[in-house]
Amino acid sequence: MKKILLLGSGELGKEFVISAKRLGCHVVACDSYAGAPAMQVADEHMVFSMLDEAALRHAIATHQPDFVVPEIEAIRTEVLLEVELQGQTVIPSARAANLTMNRDRIRQVATELGVRTARYAYADSAAELLAQAQAIGFPVVIKPVMSSSGKGQSVAHTAADIDGSWDFACAGMRGDRKKVIVEEFIHFEYEITLLTVRQRQGPTLFCPPIGHVQERGDYQYSWQPQAMSAEHLKAAQDMSEKVTANLGGVGLFGVEFFVTRDEVIFSELSPRPHDTGMVTLVSQNLSEFDLHARAILGLPIPLIETREGASAVVLASHNGVNPRFEGVEQALSVPGVDVRIFGKPSTRPYRRMAVALASGSNALATARAAAAKIKVI
Ligand SMILES: Nc1ncnc2c1ncn2[C@@H]1O[C@H](COP(=O)(O)OP(=O)(O)O)[C@@H](O)[C@H]1O
Ligand SMILES: [Mg+2]
Repeated sequence: MKKILLLGSGELGKEFVISAKRLGCHVVACDSYAGAPAMQVADEHMVFSMLDEAALRHAIATHQPDFVVPEIEAIRTEVLLEVELQGQTVIPSARAANLTMNRDRIRQVATELGVRTARYAYADSAAELLAQAQAIGFPVVIKPVMSSSGKGQSVAHTAADIDGSWDFACAGMRGDRKKVIVEEFIHFEYEITLLTVRQRQGPTLFCPPIGHVQERGDYQYSWQPQAMSAEHLKAAQDMSEKVTANLGGVGLFGVEFFVTRDEVIFSELSPRPHDTGMVTLVSQNLSEFDLHARAILGLPIPLIETREGASAVVLASHNGVNPRFEGVEQALSVPGVDVRIFGKPSTRPYRRMAVALASGSNALATARAAAAKIKVI
């Protein structure tokens, strides 16, 4: 039986644990709080901060897993680099976890590989941010180099917005580096996640593109497949192949692109299942979690079959504990609708608590209507 140490135990981790357990794995789920979603379905759990170097080293030494599987970005990845050198397998690779922990490093890799990105610069003060924003040209998007799910992210339309954006970024920042990335605002027609699977044996595989809509820098709903010209799809696949090959290792990656009328622009990448990819729980024969598990275990993936599907998030609106969900019955009474309630023990405004899934020809409207019926109390 293969042993997996899962670093981060959110909703994506929970579905991954289910997939891994179906293939007979033993999973130890770790996170900074007890009762995290993936812990509820894992064999064992450990509570510690993934940024705590000593605790992380201790967890790996104690369990001696076959695979260390990161589920979040905020991990003391230096420890992963170190244990990998000692023979530990890190998924997809310690380098991938290390480079994607901060936005600046992965962006630099993409640039060095000649992959098209939005024009960007860095700033570590409000004054520098203003200068860089003026050089790029307004509007610009500002994000802390260390953050996720849109935390600390804003759009500055004029110079008057810069101080507010700087303060907002500093407040939403993780870690100790006061540093932001400032990017050209891309007026995209749509954006996609291209789920990309690197296998131990066999070619890199691509799932059909997933379209999604974000608010406050956080995903609201997604659908698969997103219609795309063959040319644009090929461009995205080529960039994805290039970047994931550089990161190395095996597993599933969520690679994000902006698509304008004329071009495909690389945005960012997760070396693990992606939140917008929850749609694959209903739209694919093998979900992104199943694919990640198979790739990690070196099992074959002979076929990825897709049907139309969509997902829509259910967010909390207030701070609270032991949430209840109203309207689940109404949501599930619609044919083709399914729901995943993550089981998070507490709520805060905009915290993602559940997702509604739908398949069929009207999947997106159905999933959004189902999500709207569910209230977190
Ligand atoms: N340069 C940009 N131009 C236009 N929209 C952007 C830009 N950067 C980010 N966004 C919007 O914000 C969302 C979140 O940004 P992203 O860089 O993916 O951060 P996160 O790591 O929090 O997901 C994107 O999916 C997109 O909708
Ligand atoms: Mg993103």
